[in-house]
Amino acid sequence: MEYNVKTQILKVDQEHPDDAVIALAARKIVEGGLVVFPTETVYGLGANAYDEDAIRLIFAVKHRPASDPLIVHLSSMSQLGDVAEELPPHARNLVERFWPGPLTLILRRKPVIPGAVSAGLPTVAVRMPRHPVALAFLRKAGVPVAAPSANLFMHPSPTTAGHVLDDLDGHVDFILDAGPSPIGMESSVVDLLHDPPILLRPGGTSLEELRAIVPTITSEPGYFDLQTAVAGASSPGMLLRHYSPRAALLMFAGTPDKVLARMRSSATTLLEAGRSVGILSSGEFAQQFQDLDVVVNSLGSMQDLHNVGRNLFASMRDLDKAGVDVILVGEFSTKGIGLAIRDRLIRASAGRVVETSNDCLQTCTIDSQSFLL
Ligand code: TXA
Ligand code: MG
Repeated sequence: MEYNVKTQILKVDQEHPDDAVIALAARKIVEGGLVVFPTETVYGLGANAYDEDAIRLIFAVKHRPASDPLIVHLSSMSQLGDVAEELPPHARNLVERFWPGPLTLILRRKPVIPGAVSAGLPTVAVRMPRHPVALAFLRKAGVPVAAPSANLFMHPSPTTAGHVLDDLDGHVDFILDAGPSPIGMESSVVDLLHDPPILLRPGGTSLEELRAIVPTITSEPGYFDLQTAVAGASSPGMLLRHYSPRAALLMFAGTPDKVLARMRSSATTLLEAGRSVGILSSGEFAQQFQDLDVVVNSLGSMQDLHNVGRNLFASMRDLDKAGVDVILVGEFSTKGIGLAIRDRLIRASAGRVVETSNDCLQTCTIDSQSFLL
């Protein structure tokens, strides 16, 4: 199945979107087209959630396997009742506290939502975004809108209209462009059909905030323990290799001093082997690579994890554009939004995590060549 169209970028004010532009985009959704819209997390690739043909277009243009279910975006509580069966315990409290916002809930799916949306599962993922443009667009469309992140499968999620164009130009009708995404990483996904509920994907709503409402929420041990993470998890769509830049990404774990020293020595080894190297650095360390022939991209201070999260996917894309073969990055704290940053880095590294605490060099395979780093 193919969908070839002329993609139009529609600029919108992020606080006060133009009614006429929103109406144009909303009409396209109702007609069965594809509209990319900004949310507070990342840009979403939207289609009418009730329209099975439009849903199939999403999978086709993203090259996304049909086994990876989509999130349905809502603009009202009455729409929640339309798409999901009775709410399990905790649902109401979480919705009251975090909607609209970066929290997705897994609930029981009503039959009006085609099975294709949920990869045939009896469940449906729902969220109400808080970005003013997303809300205006969803209200005007009047139907729930299924939307994955608006990137090609396995690419980093898009946080600007430019990123979307790089991946999907000619395959979506409109891109509503409201500037960079404020959070820069996807929503947190919580499965409420388990007791206790499970955090399937850490994201824009932190585990600490979630536990303040539902203290029993559990999370994958892999978010905290790197060995488990590398061994692989978990729910549909949570492949270990995901969110990956084209370049091979290596994450360095340990104390900041050891991480810095090992990133420098590894960069030198890779440069000597003729590889071009990019560094995703915290602001604190960005100056420490100046004497090496590497491309440095600063994520901002490690004290400001919201800023690091906002920059993360854009920086991966920048380093890909710079043409590097390998990207080296240090680990960040897992507090607050840091858990989502850790998750995205581990997935982008496809399990290539260099543990620096024991001072032993580690074998890392990059494009089937082995390096001692
Ligand atoms: O912030 C976000 O969530 C963005 C914006 C556009 O809203 N959307 C997004 O969608 O990240 P996507 O498709 O890239 O990620 C959806 C995640 C996947 O990990 C998928 O496996 C999970 O949600 N998911 C969706 N439906 C599910 C279901 N019924 N059961 C379990 N997991 C589900
Ligand atoms: Mg995605």
